[in-house]
Amino acid sequence: MSMPTVRTLVLFGATGDLSRRMLLPSLFGLHADGLLPEDLMILGTARGEEDGPSFRTMAGASLEGIVHDDRRSAIPSFLERLRYVPLDLIDVSSFDGLASALGARATQPLAIFLSTAPDLFRPAITGLAGVGLTGANARIALEKPLGNDLASSRVINDTVAAAFPEERIFRIDHYLGKETVQNLLALRFANSLFEPMWEWSGIEHVQITVAETVGLEGRVDYYDATGATRDMVQNHMLQLLALVAMEPPASFDATDVRDEKVKVLRSLRSINPASATSHSVTGQYRAGAISGAAVASYEAELGRPSTAETFVAIKAHVDNWRWRGVPFYLRTGKRLPERFSEIVIQFRGLRHSIFQGQVLRANRLVIRLQPEENVRLLLMAKQPGLGRGGVVLREIPLDISLPNAFAGARRRIAYERLLLDLIEGDPTLFVRRDEIEAQWRWVDAVRSAWAETQMAPANYTAGSWGPPGAIALVERDGVSWHE
Ligand code: BG6
Repeated sequence: MSMPTVRTLVLFGATGDLSRRMLLPSLFGLHADGLLPEDLMILGTARGEEDGPSFRTMAGASLEGIVHDDRRSAIPSFLERLRYVPLDLIDVSSFDGLASALGARATQPLAIFLSTAPDLFRPAITGLAGVGLTGANARIALEKPLGNDLASSRVINDTVAAAFPEERIFRIDHYLGKETVQNLLALRFANSLFEPMWEWSGIEHVQITVAETVGLEGRVDYYDATGATRDMVQNHMLQLLALVAMEPPASFDATDVRDEKVKVLRSLRSINPASATSHSVTGQYRAGAISGAAVASYEAELGRPSTAETFVAIKAHVDNWRWRGVPFYLRTGKRLPERFSEIVIQFRGLRHSIFQGQVLRANRLVIRLQPEENVRLLLMAKQPGLGRGGVVLREIPLDISLPNAFAGARRRIAYERLLLDLIEGDPTLFVRRDEIEAQWRWVDAVRSAWAETQMAPANYTAGSWGPPGAIALVERDGVSWHE
């Protein structure tokens, strides 16, 4: 199934935060590298009373604030691609303006990016259908949050499905656009070294950490109604888990890759009231300090009492043939001491050591997604020297870092990859409906187990690694978090 490259990208919510911080800079990055189709028009829409020139001025100002290298000279030609149509999503008649601005492009390959609140998806779809913009030439991209539980996510999926078939729906999980995430697939399936050990007999456990130093960041209503589990675990972290745990797909094709991911997501062991307290920990930050600067508590930032979790750690299991008995420890939180995202594959220890008196650490593969992108394999090696007391061993990293191996490659924003794939019609790195629903099913069960057992977030000091229970969660298994 191949799709044509689009000639027009319509951005709903074009003046919003995501558009200014991520989408326009990503499109600019593609433009500066000559990767956008020559005649690609980017048509922004929003409710405000902008017009073409003011939209271009806004976009130009955000780009000038972000781009500091020699690509700045490409800003004016990028701005020439931009058009703007004011559009009120809940006023069906305002879609006529969109259709007339598109003119002949309305019937040519077209991508629509909905970066709006999900309660506006229905009016957006109705309005698009009303002016004939949901035809076979059109594809649609959706940003999270796609619901806040399985039921609401189904409603959104049904709404979109009423106008677009699944193959023309591109659900974004921006983690899938990150370079190292894709490199995980290369590491697993383009090398013969790891795959034979990539199962219960070779791997003792897996850790996935997404640690952030930021707090609420002004997203008061969204975050407080969502919490860390639905904000981060339901989407990004389960996608990472699926990529680590999936079987080799038949090919690197969208259907094959997504078929394998969804099998993993369906094999996740449900957390129930009996396992909730032994398998999960939630927390909310209190006042503390990060890098020496004092920070307020979550409730002080929010301005009211709250039971939302800003930290969660879960011991998950994938109940299938390959992963029998292997824990997947997931951990994410706001106001932690450092910002990093990484996956740690902890291999099993040696079955026998010939190095008496030496502590041998089992090998580990540490895949860093950010702030730096690198992959390190931790191995035991001999410490240099002529020591007469015997061989001294030490753990050293074999660095397969991307910046070293591919010096000069510009580090891209995750959305660059995803927007280019949307424009060119490759859905491999987008989330299919069955995946997102399997993710919600698992997360809903976790949350209802918490509700049933009346588990409430424990306090942690901002700048610490979460509540003490998060350490106990892994220590009970003789494991410590990789920090
Ligand atoms: C978003 C969450 O999906 O991902 C945010 O809503 C979070 O709360 C962000 O900060 C993290 O993304 P990244 O790319 O900075 O790790």
